[in-house]
Amino acid sequence: TPDKLPPQVGDILVCATGHKEGAPIDPGRLPLGGPFVLAYPMDRKTRVIRNGDAKSTPLVVHLDPASLVPEVRQHAVGGVVVYSAVCTHLGCIVSLWHPQKQLAQCPCHGGEYDLAQDRVVAGPPPRPLPLLPVRQEGGVLVVAGPFTGPVGVV
Ligand code: FES
Repeated sequence: TPDKLPPQVGDILVCATGHKEGAPIDPGRLPLGGPFVLAYPMDRKTRVIRNGDAKSTPLVVHLDPASLVPEVRQHAVGGVVVYSAVCTHLGCIVSLWHPQKQLAQCPCHGGEYDLAQDRVVAGPPPRPLPLLPVRQEGGVLVVAGPFTGPVGVV
């Protein structure tokens, strides 16, 4: 079913949680320096939200563009970067943000990810989170390509 598909090119990213759940994410309103927001892809024609498979959950963060390594910057919109939120250790959703360290953390076993440099800095995750390439159209984020690597546990 369409709600279980991974992000499709052309999908719009919408808020997955909070009072804006289901609303398109406006990259211009994301706070610089985090925290990130969890998202779901939404089919722009049918408005079906792809929340039927946790592996489709991306996270969206607004970082200083100057802090991004080229491999990250090429898939970002300015400093707005989108990753899979599925931890590469055992598949928990990465849901915590450390503003001082500017790191995303997995609540299960403390894996920490540097989202500007796309690398694991602490804990058991064996590899970084894959990126989700995006572009901006009007005030919304649109999926521009598939995840750059396998999602979650391989
Ligand atoms: Fe994320 Fe273990 S599942 S650190």
